[in-house]
Amino acid sequence: MRIAVLTGGGDCAGLNAAIRAVVRTARHRLNTDVVGYQRGWNGILEGDSILLDNDTVRGVLSHGGTMLGTSRSHPDLLQRGAQPLIDQLRRDQVDALVAIGGDGTLHTTKMLHEAGFPVVAIPKTIDNDVFGTDVCVGYDTALTVATDAVDRLHTTAESHDRLMVLEVMGRHAGHLAAGAGIAGGAAAVLIPEQPFDIDHIADQLIRRHQDGRNASIVVVAEGATPIPDTIPEYDPVVDHWGRPRLGGMGELVGRLLAKLTGYETRTTVLGHIQRGGSPTASDRLVASTVGAASIEALASGGGGNLIGISNSKVTLRPITEIAGKTRRLSREQIDLLVPMTTAADMRRRSSNR
Ligand code: F6P
Repeated sequence: MRIAVLTGGGDCAGLNAAIRAVVRTARHRLNTDVVGYQRGWNGILEGDSILLDNDTVRGVLSHGGTMLGTSRSHPDLLQRGAQPLIDQLRRDQVDALVAIGGDGTLHTTKMLHEAGFPVVAIPKTIDNDVFGTDVCVGYDTALTVATDAVDRLHTTAESHDRLMVLEVMGRHAGHLAAGAGIAGGAAAVLIPEQPFDIDHIADQLIRRHQDGRNASIVVVAEGATPIPDTIPEYDPVVDHWGRPRLGGMGELVGRLLAKLTGYETRTTVLGHIQRGGSPTASDRLVASTVGAASIEALASGGGGNLIGISNSKVTLRPITEIAGKTRRLSREQIDLLVPMTTAADMRRRSSNR
């Protein structure tokens, strides 16, 4: 059985660890080398691949990015369907594919599976929003970077009596914003799942400062949305494929909060720093686990599945049930943010009793 691997969509830390696990397990379990397609689905469409063996993946475990390169292009967007992919895979004598990616990659993976080609998917995205797994490769590293940013903002905010707004990634889900906000002790967290009321956030911050705090951090997910018609609209830039390139909500929130609270405010956009650098130990473990499990799945006829982790166990979930869905913060997770961000409110209410 000849296996191929590719990485699609935005990069993140831990992709090389996953590729390494795929290659090493394929050698160990199936006694075969692996075909690595370059720059995501483009590599298949353009017949651009390299041979991956144990030597090629030596030392990559701790390296960020992806040794195969990646791209946001996928055959769906190119309107070319599954057949050109299958034709090239056959020409390269590939019997099965491991696709490491997020929602776009899953879409194409589903198409391939429905066309009868054996394929499994490994979930990766710093947004951590792939349905059917508790955790995606890349999330823990991004969370660590974002939490470190909140910690650093605290010290400078306190030195200058400032309000600091930190915009983090998170297009459709607030895992990263909520994670960094809770772990870093932010005063408020704005997430895509729950439209925010800017006046309410400003009131909370004012009460907090009346209660004696001289500085506050507000974490804003790039995909956070206001209650309709409550703040001026902002139009994100559109990328090559017509998809909004987010970023800008932090600036807008910072400007509005400065005006509403009167506090000196600064905004930081963390951007792609969250995606870069060496993976954390947790991301290396997750990537190595699902990478190895992907080969086990293909070897035992488990094609058509997303290889995820739920309740600390490897899980196989049908791609047909997963593609097109987003794992957002649960109601319980959102509710956890409420006591944190209204602590000043609650203290004031109880002292007024
Ligand atoms: O990979 C997901 C993501 O990190 C989103 O949170 C963000 O909106 C997007 O990628 C940015 O992508 P690009 O690298 O194309 O700017």
